[in-house]
Amino acid sequence: MADRVIIDTDTATDDTLGILLAVLSDRVDVEALTIGAGNVAFDRQVENAKYTLQLADAAAEIPVHEGARSPLVKEHEHATQIHGEGGLGPDLVPETDVPSAEGFAPEYIVDAARERPGEITLVCLAPLTNVALALEREPELAELLADVVVMGGNVHTAGNVTPAAEFNFWVDPDAAKIVLDELDVTLVDWGLTLRDGTLDAAAEERITDAAGDSRFAAFYETVFQSDPEPDATVIDRDETLQPDALATAIALVPELIEQRGTYAVDVDEREGLTRGHTVVDTNGVTDREPRTDVIESVDTDGFRQLLCNTIVHGDPDRSFE
Ligand code: BDR
Ligand code: CA
Repeated sequence: MADRVIIDTDTATDDTLGILLAVLSDRVDVEALTIGAGNVAFDRQVENAKYTLQLADAAAEIPVHEGARSPLVKEHEHATQIHGEGGLGPDLVPETDVPSAEGFAPEYIVDAARERPGEITLVCLAPLTNVALALEREPELAELLADVVVMGGNVHTAGNVTPAAEFNFWVDPDAAKIVLDELDVTLVDWGLTLRDGTLDAAAEERITDAAGDSRFAAFYETVFQSDPEPDATVIDRDETLQPDALATAIALVPELIEQRGTYAVDVDEREGLTRGHTVVDTNGVTDREPRTDVIESVDTDGFRQLLCNTIVHGDPDRSFE
């Protein structure tokens, strides 16, 4: 289990629940949030992150470092069709006045890892640009980090932004390729999210019932009230998809993991039909070293309880009901 985490995020909708889960839990200390290009306009993501920290009474203690405003190589496209223009629903566009911390996010990540070798887990909820830039500055980053948990990719599953690719890997496939090549990653992919990383109607009902008493439940209702144009994979599902909370949960509570496999995983960085596609060598037919820990199954009920405890009670550490 992680002791100290840095959360790299493109804060919009589901990222906020990953942040709340980690910040409100006593299981870990959140050292900082780092922001990378992803879901919505960069400055909006920064504000969304600060607002989420404020909601948890943590904005004074947890610094927010701004990082890459565009992918390593590719042109940047946002996911406002999924997250809305601002990323927290149409009614919430925060302006917090919280200052950003000094230091470019990739440099902060390197400094923190050097200062506390072996102690820091990176929880990566965004395209992997900041992490790839950190690797460029410190090639020995793998030895300095405790773990790297990544939400990204689509393992043997159709993608969510194209048939071939999941959003985080699609936005910056060059960064994803570098990170999977050079770090020992625990991978939480889009397929796992669809299988095990949702809040179902029963969970939603618990949250709705709590919205008058819990500011986190009210926040959830505000953020997830409208899904401007749900992507093709979620239409007709009476659930909200929580990829970033799932990845964070796995970093905090590894007991939730039911099945995992270690494989060589590569990402197609070429432009075209298969840009951002996740290639997993399940049969060991390449000569690449198997080093990516792909999470294949998670205790769905346990995950839902953990997230409901966070949203309904503001207490992820509360025992399951
Ligand atoms: C991932 O992309 C983002 O839109 C979400 O926040 C999540 O990190 C899912 O594909
Ligand atoms: Ca995200």
